[in-house]
Amino acid sequence: MSGPLVLSIESSCDETGIALVEGGRRIHANVVASQAALHAATGGIVPEVAARAHLRWIVPVLDAAWADAGVAWRDVDAIAVTHGPGLAGSLLVGINFAKALAHVHGRPLVGVNHLEGHVYAGWLLDPGEADRPAPEFPLVALVVSGGHTFLVEMRDELTYRLLGQTVDDAAGEAFDKVGRLLGLGYPGGPAIQRAAEGATRRHVVFPRAWLGDSYDFSFSGLKTAARRIVAAARADEGLPIADPDARLSAATTAELAHGFQEAVVDVLATKTLRAARAVGARTIVVGGGVAANRALRARIEGEAEAARIPVVVPRPGLCTDNGAMIGAAGARRFEAGERAGLDLDARPSLPLAAR
Ligand code: KG4
Ligand code: ZN
Repeated sequence: MSGPLVLSIESSCDETGIALVEGGRRIHANVVASQAALHAATGGIVPEVAARAHLRWIVPVLDAAWADAGVAWRDVDAIAVTHGPGLAGSLLVGINFAKALAHVHGRPLVGVNHLEGHVYAGWLLDPGEADRPAPEFPLVALVVSGGHTFLVEMRDELTYRLLGQTVDDAAGEAFDKVGRLLGLGYPGGPAIQRAAEGATRRHVVFPRAWLGDSYDFSFSGLKTAARRIVAAARADEGLPIADPDARLSAATTAELAHGFQEAVVDVLATKTLRAARAVGARTIVVGGGVAANRALRARIEGEAEAARIPVVVPRPGLCTDNGAMIGAAGARRFEAGERAGLDLDARPSLPLAAR
C-alpha cells in the first residue's frame, strides 16, 4: 500500500478518536476513548460534559495512537480533522488540537465532514487484514447514526447526491429513545439489540413509515407508537404508574425490543435495496453507529446477496465514531489538493450533499 499517511482526529460527538491511516485505507493505529459510560448517568449527552471529556482525553488518545503505530511524525503527510456536523464545543476541541499540531509540525490541515467519514469507513483495512478491492462506483451509501439517517448515491470519489434522509429523528436517536422507554439505559442501540436477540415470542408489530416511493425516512411516529405500546404492556403487567422505575418483565422487554428493531431494519433495508437497484449500484456501503446492529447487517447482506450487489459494512468498531474513518476521507481530500487554513472553524450543521 502507498499513498499519504494521515493523522486524523474525530471529536464531533462523544467519542475522542485519533488514528494514523495510510493511503486512505490501511489503519496503523485507531484509538477511541468513548464517553458512553459518562453519559449513561444522565441518559444522554450533555454537550458541555462531552466537550470537557474531549479536552481531558485528547492528549492521552494521541499518545496511545503513537504507541500503537509503527510510524513517526516524519512519516505524516497531513492532518485531517472533523469540522462538522456535530456539537460545537466538542468539534472545537478536535479542531483546535489539529491546528496546533499542524502549526507546530508544519503539516497541511484538511477539514473532513463527519458524515463523509462514516461513508469512507467502508474503505478501511485493519492492520493485519488482507488487501481487498475498494468499493466500486456507482454506489449507494446508507448512513445511520445517532444524529443522521440518509441515503446518497456516489458516482465517483467525494461526490454525493442525496437520495433521501430522515424528515424527523435519526434511526439511532429512535433506538436511544426507545431504549430509555424500556429502561435499558444509554446508548439504547446496543442494549435493544441484546434484548431483541433474547425474544422468544415475536408477535408485537410496530408501525413502518414508508413515505410513499420516496427514499426519505421518518422515525418519530415509531417513537410515539413505542410509548403507547410500552404503556399498554406496563398496564398489562400491573406496573404502578406512580413508579416509573418498576421494570417490565425480561420476556416482554425482549419482545418489544425485537418488534421495534424489526420495524427500523425493515424500512432501512427495503429503501436501501430499492435505491441500489434504481441507480444501478455496483456496491452498497453502510455506515454509522446503527450499522453496528446485527439484525440490520444480516438483513441488508441477505437481500443484497439475492440482488447480486456486493455490500460493504465495516466491523462494528468502525461503524461507530472513530478517527480512522476521518483519515480515510481526509486522504482523498488531501490528494484532491484541499487544504484548510489555520482559521478553520466548527460547522455544527455542515451538510454532506444536496438533492
Ligand atoms: O455514528 P455514531 O457512533 O455517532 C453519531 O455520529 O451519532 O452513532 C451512535 C448511535 C447511537 O444512537 C447508538 O444507539 C447507535 O448508534 N448504535 C446502535 C448499535 N450500536 C450503536 N444502534 C443499533 N444497534 C447497535 N448495535
Ligand atoms: Zn457519527
